[in-house]
Amino acid sequence: MILNPATPVALLAILRASDVRPNIPLCLANNFYGIFGQQSVFKIPDSSCFELLPNTVDEGSVVPLYLPEDGPQQLVWIRESSIHDSLRTPEYEAEVADFVDWLLSEKHIAYPDGQTVLFNGEKSGPVSLVYRTANSGVVAVADQGAAHILSTRLPRFWKASPIPALPVSYLPVPDAAIERVRDLLVSLRFDALVAGIVNGISVEQMRKDIRYLTNEDGTSGIASRHSFHHGSRVAGEWLKTQFEDAGAKCRFMPFLEGFAPNVICRYDAKTESPDTVLISGHYDSRGSFGMERAPGGNDDGSGTISILNIARRIKQTGITFRRNVELVAFAGEEQGLLGSRAYARELRGRGANITLMIQADMLAYHAPDEPPQLGYPQSIGTPEVAQLVVNISAIYSPELTVGSTTVCCSDHQSFHEQGFPATQLFERVGPIADPMYHNSGDLSDRPGYDLNQVRSICKVQFATLLHAAGFDLPEGVNVEDLEKLD
Ligand SMILES: *[C@@H]1O[C@H](CO)[C@@H](O)[C@H](O)[C@H]1NC(C)=O
Ligand SMILES: *[C@@H]1O[C@H](CO)[C@@H](O)[C@H](O)[C@H]1NC(C)=O
Ligand SMILES: [Zn+2]
Repeated sequence: MILNPATPVALLAILRASDVRPNIPLCLANNFYGIFGQQSVFKIPDSSCFELLPNTVDEGSVVPLYLPEDGPQQLVWIRESSIHDSLRTPEYEAEVADFVDWLLSEKHIAYPDGQTVLFNGEKSGPVSLVYRTANSGVVAVADQGAAHILSTRLPRFWKASPIPALPVSYLPVPDAAIERVRDLLVSLRFDALVAGIVNGISVEQMRKDIRYLTNEDGTSGIASRHSFHHGSRVAGEWLKTQFEDAGAKCRFMPFLEGFAPNVICRYDAKTESPDTVLISGHYDSRGSFGMERAPGGNDDGSGTISILNIARRIKQTGITFRRNVELVAFAGEEQGLLGSRAYARELRGRGANITLMIQADMLAYHAPDEPPQLGYPQSIGTPEVAQLVVNISAIYSPELTVGSTTVCCSDHQSFHEQGFPATQLFERVGPIADPMYHNSGDLSDRPGYDLNQVRSICKVQFATLLHAAGFDLPEGVNVEDLEKLD
C-alpha cells in the first residue's frame, strides 16, 4: 500500500473492533474517534504510526480523507442497520437509491476507485460524502442545520452518528472489572428467591404500559417519541412519575439543546456501596420518513417497559439492594446514542464503578412462525457480560432460543466506549426482521409483536440485576409470599 500523508488532509483508519483490542500502538490510542458500526475509527497522525499498525489490519481499512480546507469539517458516520433480507423490499431499495443520488448530486464527488467515493477537493456543498462502502459512509456537514437535513434524508434502516471533532479517550474495560463479571458467572446458581421475584413480571401490566406509550389506548395523546417532538417530553414526564411511584429517586438529565432528557432513576444500596449496576432502554423513537407518528412500540417501547416493570416489581416485593441500582431511560439514541454518550462520559468523569450495564433495545418482535428468542451482540460489548446473560437466560427463561445477533450499536456501546462492562438484549438471533422497524406502524397490536417474549427477556434483565447487585427481602417475607405479591 502506498501512502503519501502529505496529500490527503487525514488518514482515517477504520478497523474491525476485533483487530484492535487490547493491543494498539499509543499513537493510535491517542487518536481514537469512537466505534461506528462494527468498526473503530482512528486518525493516523503520521507515517511512523502507520508502520505500527497491527498486521491483522487489512489494506482497505485505511482510508485517505480529503476535506476541503474552507469547507465542512464536521464528520458524520452513516450506516445501514443489520437487517434481514425480507426487509429489502423494492420500496426500501428505491429509498436507498434516492438517498445516494441526493448525496452525490452537486456535491463534487470524484470516484478514484470502484468502492470508495472521495470528495475531490473542489468547492463542497453543506453535505458532502467523503467516504463510502456498500452500506456505510462518512459525510462532512457544514453545521447543525446540515446535520439535521442529513438525518431527515436518511433511508429508514440507516443511522447517523456524529464523529467527534477531537479524539476521545480509548478506554478498554479494565481486567479487574472483567474479573468481577467472571466471578458472578462462575458462582451463578439457580436461586428460588430470584425466580420468585422475576416470575411476578406481569404481561398485563406491560400491555397497559406499552399501549400508553404508543397512545394505542388513546389516553396519553403521544403521537411521537422522537427526541425533538413534544410527545417525548410527555413520555419522559410520565416515565419519571412511574419510576418514582415505584420507589426510585429520579432526575432528568438534559444533554443537548432541543432534545428530550435522559430519565435517570436510582435505588441506593441499603448500606453504602461504591458499586452500581445499571439497566436501561431508550424511550425515544423514530417513524416513517415524512410522517409525524412515531409510536416506537418495539423500538424501543419494549425495552422501556422492561425496565419500568422491573421497577414496579421492586416496589411490590419491597426488596432492597446491596449495590446501587440505576434504571435509565435514554433519549437521543436514534440520533447517534447522544443521551447515553453524555451519561457514560459523566459517569467516567466521576470515577463511577459500574459492575455491569445491560441495555434492552427491541425485545418484542419475532416472525410469527419463529420461537421466542434472545439475541446478544456479536461484536460490541463485553463478552463476559453477554455470557452471564446467556447463562441466566438458561436458568430463568429456558423458553428462549438464545444466540448472537449482528445487530449492533445501541446505548450499551456508549458504556463500552467508556470502558464499562456492558451488553445488549435483543429480540432475535440474527439480524432485524421487524417489518415495522423505524416505521410509523410500530404498534404493539400486530402479528409478531409478542409481549410474552418481552416478559421472558425482561426476566433475564431483572435476574441479572438481582444476581449482580445482591438483594434482601423485607423482614418476615419469604419465598412463598412472593407469589402473592402481585
Ligand atoms: C454457562 O452455561 C454453559 C451451558 O450450560 C456451561 O457449560 C458453562 O459452564 C456456564 N459457564 C459458567 C462460567 O458457569
Ligand atoms: C469506586 O471504587 C473505589 C474503590 O472501592 C472507591 O475508592 C471510589 O470512591 C469508588 N467511586 C465512586 C464514585 O463511588
Ligand atoms: Zn432502538
